[in-house]
Amino acid sequence: MKTFEEFSLGDLKLKNRIIMAPLTRSRAIDNIPNDLMRKYYSQRASAGLIISEGTSPSPNGLGYPRIPGAYSNEQINGWKKVAEGVHKNGGKFFVQLMHTGRVTSGLNLPEGAKALAPSAIKLDGEMYTDVKGPQPHDTPAEMTIADIKTAQDEHVNAAVELVKVGVDGIELHAANGYLLEQFINPKSNIRTDEYGGNYKNRARFVLEIAKRVADIIGGNKVGMRLSPYGVFNDMQGDYENLVDAYTYLAEELKKLNFAYIHIVDQRVAMGAPEFSTDIKSTIKNTFGGNIIVGGDVHTASRAEELIDEGYDLVYIGRPFISNPNLVEKLKANETLTDADPNTFYAPGEVGYVDYI
Ligand SMILES: Cc1cc2nc3c(=O)[nH]c(=O)nc-3n(C[C@H](O)[C@H](O)[C@H](O)COP(=O)(O)O)c2cc1C
Repeated sequence: MKTFEEFSLGDLKLKNRIIMAPLTRSRAIDNIPNDLMRKYYSQRASAGLIISEGTSPSPNGLGYPRIPGAYSNEQINGWKKVAEGVHKNGGKFFVQLMHTGRVTSGLNLPEGAKALAPSAIKLDGEMYTDVKGPQPHDTPAEMTIADIKTAQDEHVNAAVELVKVGVDGIELHAANGYLLEQFINPKSNIRTDEYGGNYKNRARFVLEIAKRVADIIGGNKVGMRLSPYGVFNDMQGDYENLVDAYTYLAEELKKLNFAYIHIVDQRVAMGAPEFSTDIKSTIKNTFGGNIIVGGDVHTASRAEELIDEGYDLVYIGRPFISNPNLVEKLKANETLTDADPNTFYAPGEVGYVDYI
């Protein structure tokens, strides 16, 4: 099966086409990657590529409790050890940079950090905090041009430092309603300067980061996650020029020689309605490079179907939580163990490194 054959991603040789999807697991006490996380990722090194949980390049982007960062020496050193563990077991490892923007509570942020977003529009609903349980999201401050430059610098610095210590590459998280998508989506971006308004302006923040990161570490070490038609975190699922917006992003990422575009299909498990266009193939045809797709993939035959449709790589999320040796199980057509949602975000080893 093509699913289990080697695949060249940029300069990397992946041992199969199965990608462990980014999964926030909230085990990073004090926002620092630790030995327990090293163990968890090392156990899953049979994936062709592991993409880490969302990791903030900035103190301002740590909206959830116990998510890791990549801006201090301690954090970078933690990721170095995680990458070493994965490499020792024969795997490859990208870190997903996720700045949560307005999806945040100040109670989760370190001292001095603040909620920032393209516009000062509060997200409805609540954010879990360790100190006070669920709390309303903070109303973000509208980012000044200086804030924008700082946030961009933070993404670039994190990417550079991570690659320096041996991480294989970086994924920019421009999906699921976090800071990068908050700029792209017209519901959360009502700016009137060059970072808001038409779709090209709304893409500017993301593309400037993409260009700077690609210039320094090489486009072939960078991917981007996108969720067209997504509604998670109160994004507007469909809007005028959506197809133009994603076509433009794909064209620009092609110019930067990006390693891949990773398309989240939020119809699967995330409540998005049917897509009104064939956006996945539009992105694929425009970009021309590697595309990762997936969602609700539980068998090798389903992965193979997606590859037969012309996509390159297949992401698998929840099954990797509860089946560390997922690739072997898929190869043998074994029944998978179900993951327990109660321990998705709970600190500690239970439901994390104890699945077999
Ligand atoms: C516990 C959990 C944490 C997640 N964390 C992230 C994340 O940090 N970054 C991200 O891009 N997606 C995240 N997702 C979405 C997954 O990457 C994936 O798109 C989703 O689980 C659907 O794929 P699946 O059906 O294979 O699980 C998360 C999903 C779950 C269940």
